[in-house]
Amino acid sequence: MAFLDDIEPLKQSALAELRAAADLSVLEHVRVNYLGAHGKLTALMKQLGALPKEEKPAAGQAINRAKAELEVALGERRSELELKAAQPKEPTDFTLPGRRRMLGKLHPLTQVTEDIVRSFRKLGFVVADGPEVEDEYHCFDALNTPADHPARDTQDTFYIQHPAAGIENQGSGPQPLAAPKSDESGSILNPQLLLRTHTSPVQIRVMEKQQPPVRIIVPGRVYRRDNADATHNPTFQQVEGLYVDRDVTVGDLKGTVEFVFKELMGPETRIRFRPHYFSYTEPSFEIDFSSALTRKLGREWLEIAGCGMVHPQVFENVGYDPEAWTGWAFGFGIERIAMIRYGINDIRLLYENDVRFLKQF
Ligand code: DAH
Repeated sequence: MAFLDDIEPLKQSALAELRAAADLSVLEHVRVNYLGAHGKLTALMKQLGALPKEEKPAAGQAINRAKAELEVALGERRSELELKAAQPKEPTDFTLPGRRRMLGKLHPLTQVTEDIVRSFRKLGFVVADGPEVEDEYHCFDALNTPADHPARDTQDTFYIQHPAAGIENQGSGPQPLAAPKSDESGSILNPQLLLRTHTSPVQIRVMEKQQPPVRIIVPGRVYRRDNADATHNPTFQQVEGLYVDRDVTVGDLKGTVEFVFKELMGPETRIRFRPHYFSYTEPSFEIDFSSALTRKLGREWLEIAGCGMVHPQVFENVGYDPEAWTGWAFGFGIERIAMIRYGINDIRLLYENDVRFLKQF
């Protein structure tokens, strides 16, 4: 029974060695040494064949059991050593200050825009949108802005050269005389395209698509051929508002503007209207406001927006009956509001994406 007697000591020495293995490479060495093709236990198994027939079953079982036991022990030790290898070499110092992750925040222009939209939503206005690449008809003609108006000067606006492709005129209303040639489907053929100079064309696009009442607010990007300086940037943001219903008055306009500006600039904000001229409103006004913010800038009143009662010709242009419907509109620049609100003295700061500046708001 020398064979059976050899198994147990061999197993014990294998177990002792693998428990003593300090790392994975030593453990692998132990495995090869006992269970590899030329290992000690493997060598013992090879002797099985030489045993007398009646001893083979018991010997075979014993050696298989030992082998299985060794494999389990190897597996356990391997897991232990792998865990050990994955642990940090240096102990963790829990007293070190944590690594702070920078919290993102909304751009000041986005914050102001969202505040404006939130106020108008309270009054039942919905957000509308329109293309930034606009056609001359929607940007000017439909807004009753004549062809010789300075706003249409190529020096004031970015015109776009385009071979034949026209943009869709989404309007369903009748096309007024001033409209460029259109095909049967109403698509404008080869319109003159430009980057919109204001958000006012969205008034036209919305009215072309729906019947009154209309209550929309239109935040959006606009473009002008201005050289950048402290108060100008070739692209900036506006908010347009349009309200159309029966018997709408200047009083409604003033009350609405007052409500929104008090929400935006503080409850003691006052506003005043000064007569002005816009071709798409009659009468037209400029809106000034006064608050602690304007006084901080050394002024009682600051001009902030343009507005007026929608011109009857604009209603005609979109197919509304000017005898039946009345309305008002306004437009203002978002940068200007943000600059006054946060005391920013250069509009370009809003476009430089400098985190040191942006994280202040
Ligand atoms: N579109 C004008 C501008 O860009 C602002 C404006 C004035 C919009 C009067 C209006 C309005 O809707 O009624 O300066």
